[in-house]
Amino acid sequence: MAHDCIVTETDGPVGVIRLNRPDALNALNARLIAQLTGALEAFEADAAIGCIVLTGSRKAFAAGADIAEMKDRTWPQTWLEDFLSRWDAIARTRKPLIAAVSGYCLGGGCEVAMMCDFIIASESARFGQPEIRLGIIPGAGGTQRLTRAVGKARAMDLILTGRMMDAAEALASGLVARVVPDESLMDEAMSAARMIAGHGRAAVLAAREAVNRAFEVPLQEGLRFERRMFYALFATADQKEGMAAFVQKRKPRFTGG
Ligand code: CAA
Repeated sequence: MAHDCIVTETDGPVGVIRLNRPDALNALNARLIAQLTGALEAFEADAAIGCIVLTGSRKAFAAGADIAEMKDRTWPQTWLEDFLSRWDAIARTRKPLIAAVSGYCLGGGCEVAMMCDFIIASESARFGQPEIRLGIIPGAGGTQRLTRAVGKARAMDLILTGRMMDAAEALASGLVARVVPDESLMDEAMSAARMIAGHGRAAVLAAREAVNRAFEVPLQEGLRFERRMFYALFATADQKEGMAAFVQKRKPRFTGG
């Protein structure tokens, strides 16, 4: 499929995917989701890529699922197709995925950003789950991931009123990891991505799997999982290199082994 809804590029070990439907504030239609999941799969398969940055335009990361495309859907069609299940592929990405968010990040757009490992926002970013205003509820993880990120009180406030929160509130509530000036957004995201891609690949995968476990299993099981992953990393060449480099007071040269 030709990419007309996204733009992809690589910068060394970093893959960049830019959502690109400027006339619709990057509304997420089926074609865009297919292109996005295809591009993620391609970066997953590319051994040279160690981290992926997902971004939009200055005006919008994405203003939600495409309402014009959804408006005539029927319940049986939505149910039988399991319409939103295709979006799950984004959350299943194994390589680290950073959302670089500027402008509107609403509904399905906020849900996609929350599927990423963390969000770096620019000062103009606006987050919200406004689905209630359309007579629906968030359907791609909003009620679950937002609640885990910001807690029940603020999630209920946002989801029941449909209001937007600004970048400062998103930072204070724990939805985003960093807020930076608009003009620095991509520099900041790319520099974080390069740093992550430069670490030992097995350690990075283990770290993100272990953090994600915290949301899936009871504490004792999570702690056991973390410890098993910690021990397993002593089987890697990157652990030997990382510790030798520290002792020898030099920079490590990780090989992914
Ligand atoms: N779907 C389809 N088109 C959209 C869209 C969306 N989610 N959001 C914006 N657009 C389109 C508009 O229709 C408009 O197109 P035209 O120029 O052809 O009329 C264009 O993008 C620009 O939008 P506006 O003129 O509305 O721009 P604005 O600056 O006045 O307002 C906004 C910006 C507040 C974000 C407003 O566009 C808005 O409220 N958008 C809808 C947000 C929303 O409800 N998102 C949730 C969608 S449902 C969902 O995501 C379900 C799920 O959980 C999976």
